[in-house]
Amino acid sequence: MNSNLKFDRHRRLRRTPAIRKMVRETFIQPSDFIYPIFVTEEGSNIKSEIKSMPNVYRYSLDRLDEELKEVTSLGIPSIMFFGVPKEKDAVGSGAYDDQGIVQRAIRQTKKDYPDLVVIADTCMCEYTDHGHCGIIHDGDVDNDESLTYLAKTAVSQAKAGADIIAPSNMMDGFVAAIREALDESGFSQIPIMSYAVKYASAYFGPFRDAAESAPKFGNRKTYQMDPANRLEALREAESDVQEGADMIIVKPALPYLDVLRDVRNEVKLPLVAYNVSGEYAMVKAAALNGWIDEKAVVLESLTAMKRAGADMIITYHAKDACRWLLEEG
Ligand code: PBG
Ligand code: ZN
Repeated sequence: MNSNLKFDRHRRLRRTPAIRKMVRETFIQPSDFIYPIFVTEEGSNIKSEIKSMPNVYRYSLDRLDEELKEVTSLGIPSIMFFGVPKEKDAVGSGAYDDQGIVQRAIRQTKKDYPDLVVIADTCMCEYTDHGHCGIIHDGDVDNDESLTYLAKTAVSQAKAGADIIAPSNMMDGFVAAIREALDESGFSQIPIMSYAVKYASAYFGPFRDAAESAPKFGNRKTYQMDPANRLEALREAESDVQEGADMIIVKPALPYLDVLRDVRNEVKLPLVAYNVSGEYAMVKAAALNGWIDEKAVVLESLTAMKRAGADMIITYHAKDACRWLLEEG
């Protein structure tokens, strides 16, 4: 070999596991994770698996403790509740009912696990008979009328004891409306984790099976974002910051890591990636077929989300990831 040859020796820093760990730039840990939980109002003694999401279940409140015990014992600091109500109507009354399924789940959880951070997803789609995220007027989702209902919903969730309000409805002005309502009701210390950048994504399919929240007509494209748009993400994030959001969510995660990085560079608030149901379903399907190494793929994907700029990750993989991280040491 020509001894005058000059080139970088990148491989020096990859020589041993210990050296690789010393120079590693990104880490995932249990405290990064938020675990979504589905609670169902109908019936008792229910733990039913969601068909398109292996190992994710809907729980009736009398069985919820099994899940909470597992989540807390793994060191996951936070959960997010989604409710499946017994009855739905045009205005989604179940969403803002003080005895609604999510309100009851929150109360029960905070009583038994006061240190667990409970996040409430604030939306109408699980509670409306038409399945849209707001109130319908003349065949369309009425933005400003929906705000009134969303604000009521957020206040009832805060009253039940939610630590963080996470509005996912994508109406314009929802952060301002919810902030004002929370402040007026004595909840000025409850932060808003805004789904600021949420795309009209086909990756939400399995969630809509789980929550029975698919729209009965049309789609969500007049309020959720066009997947083709990147600058619009910055406009959405900026308006939510101005309206008083405390944290920002980008959703979905893996197909939108470029957007996550863009938002990271512009917004100085804590940033959350939502690793959604369809992303989970694809990994599980391939893993169950033996086509991929599930543990390696999941840990790599979650690391990629943090590398792209996420501080936290909402993920159905959270429990498995914690177990695998423990194994890894
Ligand atoms: C409610 C909501 C949805 C998700 C979170 N909150 C569904 C939707 O907007 O259709 C999706 C979560 C997932 O796919 O895991 N608006
Ligand atoms: Zn919705």
